[in-house]
Amino acid sequence: MVAKLISGSEIAGQIRAELCQEISELKARGGIVPGLATILVGDDPASHVYVSSKVKTCQSMGIHSERYDLPATTSEAELLALLEKLNSAPHINGILVQIPLPKHIDEAKVILSINPDKDVDGFHPISVGRMLIGTPGFLPCTPHGIQVLLQRSNVNTSGAEVVVVGRSNIVGKPIANILLQKACGANATVTVCHASTRDIASHTRRADILIAAIGKPKFITADMVKDDAVVIDVGTNEIGKTHEGKRILAGDVDFDAVKEKACAITPVPGGVGPMTIIMLMSNTVKSAKMAHGLA
Ligand code: GUN
Repeated sequence: MVAKLISGSEIAGQIRAELCQEISELKARGGIVPGLATILVGDDPASHVYVSSKVKTCQSMGIHSERYDLPATTSEAELLALLEKLNSAPHINGILVQIPLPKHIDEAKVILSINPDKDVDGFHPISVGRMLIGTPGFLPCTPHGIQVLLQRSNVNTSGAEVVVVGRSNIVGKPIANILLQKACGANATVTVCHASTRDIASHTRRADILIAAIGKPKFITADMVKDDAVVIDVGTNEIGKTHEGKRILAGDVDFDAVKEKACAITPVPGGVGPMTIIMLMSNTVKSAKMAHGLA
């Protein structure tokens, strides 16, 4: 059987339409325009692409966007001063500091300095704590996007064996946590594999839902996947450039081989990536509503 394609682009498009409706209602109701500030320090090319994409999406949806591109030489104190200003700016509802930061800046300290009410990335320890306990707050965009992708593709997670490969703070740890919650769209039995796991394939072969967030192209091969599994590929590995200089991406899953075995699979690009961006927009709209007592 050839797997059904789970199109993140298509599902993100549906959510986008719903959000645009909400944004126009907010504008009509009280002249409310959600605002997102993005901060990029240094010149990492991949980070530039991601931030540009986030800014462009804001602009196309009627979300106010403020972009701060700072040189790699920016001091930690300068970055913290900018955050302090944005933390109290009423027209800014979300603050995103693109990770990774240059080595001389303490990432944990920077994240801790973001106003938790504007933490649309869901990286602040207060947001992480709320996610862990299962109380309302901002969920991190990529893992939340994966959950929504599964829900909108009618993949039942309740009682399912979910195996996550990768334990990053941005994807692996939070998606494991989100899917094990006692909640709608969760209730899974979750295993997390990582670099020190013995015999990763013995775990992945048990998975009803396999989530690959490793950062190594084609790490998940067909022999590691159970027949009829649902496979979510979070990898965005640059494996080359086109003649025009555009990045060529490969996922963490050997797509061509695994699609012959799985029942559903996300492509790269066009899978998890568009969901990450739309969940950021969703968190920004939610934050604007909260700031005006509407959520
Ligand atoms: N770097 C990689 N993914 C992300 C993300 O979702 N948010 C931020 N701020 N940085 C990232």
